[in-house]
Amino acid sequence: MCYAIPGQVKSFDGKFVLVDYFGEQKKAINELSALKVGDYVYAQGGFVITKVSQSEALQTLETWKDLFFELKDIDDRSVKDMPWAGAKFAKVRDMFDCVSADGKISLQDLQYLLSSKDAGEREFIRNAANQSRHKYHGNSCCVHGIIEIGNVCDQVCHYCGISRLNTSLTRYRMSKEEILESVRVAVEDYGFKALVLQSGEDADRPIIELVDIVTEIKKRFGVLIFVSFGEVGREGLEQLYTAGARGLLLRFESSNPNIYQELHPGSNLDDRLKDLRYANELGYLIITGSLVGLPGQTAEDISRDIQLAGELNVEMLSMGPFLPHPHTPLAHNLPPTKEAVVQVLAAARFYLPSHVKILVTTGLETLNAEARELAFRSGANSMMLNVTPQEKKLLYEIYPDRAHQNESLAVQIDSAKNLLQSLGRAPTDLSFR
Ligand code: 5AD
Repeated sequence: MCYAIPGQVKSFDGKFVLVDYFGEQKKAINELSALKVGDYVYAQGGFVITKVSQSEALQTLETWKDLFFELKDIDDRSVKDMPWAGAKFAKVRDMFDCVSADGKISLQDLQYLLSSKDAGEREFIRNAANQSRHKYHGNSCCVHGIIEIGNVCDQVCHYCGISRLNTSLTRYRMSKEEILESVRVAVEDYGFKALVLQSGEDADRPIIELVDIVTEIKKRFGVLIFVSFGEVGREGLEQLYTAGARGLLLRFESSNPNIYQELHPGSNLDDRLKDLRYANELGYLIITGSLVGLPGQTAEDISRDIQLAGELNVEMLSMGPFLPHPHTPLAHNLPPTKEAVVQVLAAARFYLPSHVKILVTTGLETLNAEARELAFRSGANSMMLNVTPQEKKLLYEIYPDRAHQNESLAVQIDSAKNLLQSLGRAPTDLSFR
């Protein structure tokens, strides 16, 4: 599978370059020093990440040429065929018209979408969200890889299976060499253009080591790096950015300070938000969001989660279900339904700025194997595949029986590719701002 289409540099405008993709031009930030007009590049998340030779680019473009338009056609038809229910769901239709005209719906409207209980109306909301996704993002779908570099965690989050209170879990910390080899496999053998490095909050792996790893990755590979090591503070964020990380994945978990406090003894929401706000100031692409189905959470809380993600300048929304883990204090709480989670994603597509990408989380797939497709048909347009070495992947047990945990990377890629092709989505990231 190819995760990006090479584009050709057409012109420079300050720190930006205009890149041409089959006649369509997109703006991307360029940080490569020797780039010239006419060069071929891969870009991800709005950053030029690497140059490719003309022969490699032309060869890749040749394989994409027909497929690109075939996929677009399937996706175009899928939204054209959507049943529009006319006046029946006038309130949602008005919201859709507002969003289609680049307007913004209110928080009350968002709550209405989240609270709808009528099956027909909920389907209408999902279809309208799919239309909005299509209008702004076309058929492009972001496919990032994630490497879980360690499961040691000093935190005690009540829902999380890798909390330090779970003494029955075998802990691991991948070495620098193991991480570099996993990155190599992902980038060179499988073609990933964007990777998330994730771990628990692990004070025994100091930030300086993480910085060294990111520096080495950026030296060796043309890949966009997102870091996800929990709260690393202002200095940690600065150092990782300097090392070359350009994205941060950090969920705020809940925008309700009471829920947050209850579930995260010894931590507070404000500190977490400070990291997210500072990362945004530094220029990180922000992936954030919350858990759906936490004890005591209301539709109003979820609407505020979506609102907060917007305030944090979210680039990619990551909202997924809470799933009970047997060795945590929430072992006996029930997860939400897949329909409820997909409704959250669809409602978020209405409310958030149209450039925002919406992730289908592994949690949602774990909740229900068909939910991935439903979410993609309901406004979502991003996914992450797990690139962690197999034996480590099984130990990154934030919740049990994670979807794809027994599948090799090749199998995961194959099923993702089949699904995307059946939906007419191109596994590329062409929807930068
Ligand atoms: N269910 C769903 N998601 C969980 N996470 C941790 N534990 C669980 C769980 N039991 C999520 C948190 C965290 C991310 C790495 O994993 O939202 O930010």
